[in-house]
Amino acid sequence: MQNKFDVLIIGTGSAGLMSALQLSDELSVAMIAKDEILEGSSYYAQGGISAVLSADDDFESHIADTLATGGGLGDEAAVRLMVEQAPNAIAALENIGVPFTHKNGKYHLTTEGGHSSKRVAHVADKTGISIQTSLFNQIKNNPNIHLFENFIAIDLLIKNQHCSGAYILNKSTQQIECFIAHKTIIATGGASKAYLYTSNPDTSTGDGIAMAYRGGCEIVNMEFTQFHPTCLYHPHAKSFLISEALRGEGAKLVLPNGDKFMHKYDSREELAPRDIVARAIDSEMKTNGFDCVYLDISFKDKSWIKQHFPNIFAKCLSFGIDISSQLIPVVPAAHYTCGGIDTDLNACSKIGNLYAVGEAAHTGAHGANRMASNSLLECIVFAKSCAEHINAQKLPSAYPRFEEWDNSKVSLSREQVVVSHLWDEIRRIMWNFVGIVRSNKRLHSAKIHLAQIQIEVNEYYRLYLISSDLIELRNLITSAQIIVKSAIGRTESRGLHYNKDYPKQANKSINTVVKKL
Ligand code: FAD
Ligand code: SIN
Repeated sequence: MQNKFDVLIIGTGSAGLMSALQLSDELSVAMIAKDEILEGSSYYAQGGISAVLSADDDFESHIADTLATGGGLGDEAAVRLMVEQAPNAIAALENIGVPFTHKNGKYHLTTEGGHSSKRVAHVADKTGISIQTSLFNQIKNNPNIHLFENFIAIDLLIKNQHCSGAYILNKSTQQIECFIAHKTIIATGGASKAYLYTSNPDTSTGDGIAMAYRGGCEIVNMEFTQFHPTCLYHPHAKSFLISEALRGEGAKLVLPNGDKFMHKYDSREELAPRDIVARAIDSEMKTNGFDCVYLDISFKDKSWIKQHFPNIFAKCLSFGIDISSQLIPVVPAAHYTCGGIDTDLNACSKIGNLYAVGEAAHTGAHGANRMASNSLLECIVFAKSCAEHINAQKLPSAYPRFEEWDNSKVSLSREQVVVSHLWDEIRRIMWNFVGIVRSNKRLHSAKIHLAQIQIEVNEYYRLYLISSDLIELRNLITSAQIIVKSAIGRTESRGLHYNKDYPKQANKSINTVVKKL
């Protein structure tokens, strides 16, 4: 089956939905989500979205903080665009109904690691739900935007270095459909599911990054996986996030005996950038053999906690932890992919008619470490640039032709369990060998093990009918290998990449580029 649209957007997180909202009403748009429309990291965002919104703050400080947190690898033009557009981004979200928390008629601004001022606007601790539902409400009744839920993209349609859409599996019918489009936007989120423990939902399997890699794009700085310092440590919590905004409000990290430890690592203590806090926790856990450390916000009044962090309060209580009187057990977990598909300020990749926005993209705004609450901001700002770039072009009326997907040479697998075994193996290897602290030996072990898994995945892909799990496995192994290749290529420690064998930062700031030969 061939579907034809002016624009195909793969992914319905905040980057995808914002792109759709900003596209001209004259364009026909298809939006594809591999799960329910609202599912994705955007929905779970807690802390907020950063912007200069108070008289005590200014753009130059937001830019300087972002570049400093990025460890010398941030692209100043990308950071400047993002920061200078931030107040407009907040206004645009407010216009579509995002009810940012206010106090005394002003935004209630919080702070998080790396920020030198209070500049994080938020909707209590449910910022993501609010942004996602507001964006979705705006586009759901637009007759030009066609939503395809439970459709998973397999590969891009690329000929002569130009993209014309993608092959997409309809998960309900198991049919593979050809979506042909003049412009394709990848908005598929990050690859944190490559790690055993992650704050991310199941959708973050690096699909867009892997598809773009196979299509010939440059994938940049993938070694910079951000580990969020504080995910809830509980067997049933599935790495539920405990927002950095708690530390912004004074919460302290403590050892099981109640001793504070962050002063030993950084003068900014709990509000040092995430790479420093996550490494400090990792070091305390490994040195002392602790399963977790603890976060303490119990000095705040219960009603204050319930008002500012209703979601976190309720979730912890559901696990038997009353955070107004008890310590919260926390561990670091993979949270954010700083690298991705290389794009310019208009979100254009180096493949014609192919764009990337949000966590799947590498705009240069985050460098070697993303500052807290700059991700939703990047999604909103670059989605707008992307849509404006497309709106400014005259699109052709004729569509190129592509072959239908051919599955005549494959059969139904009777060993689906292999897929889940390989999936689990990849995530354990990444956690054990490519984690917060790395070494040459561990990275090379990961490379060898992943290469073996790649052979098995290729074999499976060649022989059997494609399924959603197989598509994700194929993308996960590709993303994991790109992360390892990038990590091996970086012979220094910088930002989120710490290698014991090269503990110092090099003088020169160089991006790591991985491209399919
Ligand atoms: P996502 O929101 O992850 O959306 C990806 C979309 O792509 C989904 O619709 C998914 O179904 C779809 N998709 C993926 N692969 C395919 C495929 N093959 N075919 C079809 N569809 C596909 N950042 C902040 O700035 N502030 C915060 O407070 C904050 N809190 C966070 C809290 C949590 C728990 C998490 C996990 C992240 C948080 N972040 C925060 C990071 C931020 O939420 C994400 O980086 C951002 O939302 C990513 O948006 P996105 O649109 O790029 O991707
Ligand atoms: C958080 O609320 O701690 C997450 C913020 C972010 O990832 O930027």
